[in-house]
Amino acid sequence: MKEKLIIGNQKNYMNISDVNKFLKKIENKINDKKVIICPSNIYIPYYLKNNFRVGIQNIVPDNNKAYTGEITSSQAKRMGIDYILVGHSERRINFLETDKFINEKVKDALTKNLKVVLCIGETLEEKNLLKTTKIIKKQLLSCLKDIEDFKNIIIAYEPIWAIGTNIIPSSNDISKASLYIKKVIKNNFGFENIKVLYGGSVSSKNIKELNEINEVNGFLIGKSSIDADEFLDIIEVVKF
Ligand code: PGA
Repeated sequence: MKEKLIIGNQKNYMNISDVNKFLKKIENKINDKKVIICPSNIYIPYYLKNNFRVGIQNIVPDNNKAYTGEITSSQAKRMGIDYILVGHSERRINFLETDKFINEKVKDALTKNLKVVLCIGETLEEKNLLKTTKIIKKQLLSCLKDIEDFKNIIIAYEPIWAIGTNIIPSSNDISKASLYIKKVIKNNFGFENIKVLYGGSVSSKNIKELNEINEVNGFLIGKSSIDADEFLDIIEVVKF
C-alpha cells in the first residue's frame, strides 16, 4: 500500500489562470514524494518552483539532431524532472508513434536516469476479440526490447477505451491484466518487482474500489488531476 504512486497527466489541459488557481489550492497539501504531476510543458517551471515532483509527458530521443518544437531527455533531467510518460495512446494514435520509436525513447530516457512510465493498453475492438493479453505482451516485448535495467521502469496499464470515457474495466479485469504484465516482465526479462499503475477515467468516485486491487501499485490520472479538489480527494483515499 505505502509504495503506491499517483501520477497526474495534465495533458494539454489548463491555461495559466487555471494553473495558478490549481497551485494555490494544492500548495502545501501534497508533501508526499509519491505524487508526481506531468503538466503541459510550458507550465513545468511553475510546478518546479512550487516544489512539486514533476514528470514530462513526452521527450524526443537525444541523438544530436535538431527537432524543432521538441524537448530532449537531458533538457528534462537538468531541469529537475524525474519521470517521463512514454507510449501514451494519444501519442500512438495522433502522432503515429510506433513501438520501435517508443523503445528508442525508453532507452534514451534510462541513460539519463529518468524514471520511465510506459503506457500500454488495448482498444475496445481488441478487448472484444479477447486479444487483451496478446496486445499487452506485444507492446511490452517491443517497447522494452533490449532493456536490461528495470529498476527505473513503471508500466501504466491504460485500456484505450477507458481513457476519458468515464468507463473503467472491472476490478477483476484490472487485476488480471496487472498480474499478466508482471508475469510477462518476469518471464521475459527476469525482473520481479515491476510496478504496474492503472490509468483510465480514475476519479474520486471510483478510487476506493480501484485502490482495493492488490496488484495495482498506483494510478495514472488524466482529467481528475486538473481539478485540485478532485485530485486531493483521490490522494486522500490512496494515502500511501
Ligand atoms: P483520464 O486519462 O484519467 O482522463 O481517462 C488518463 C490518461 O490519459 O492517462
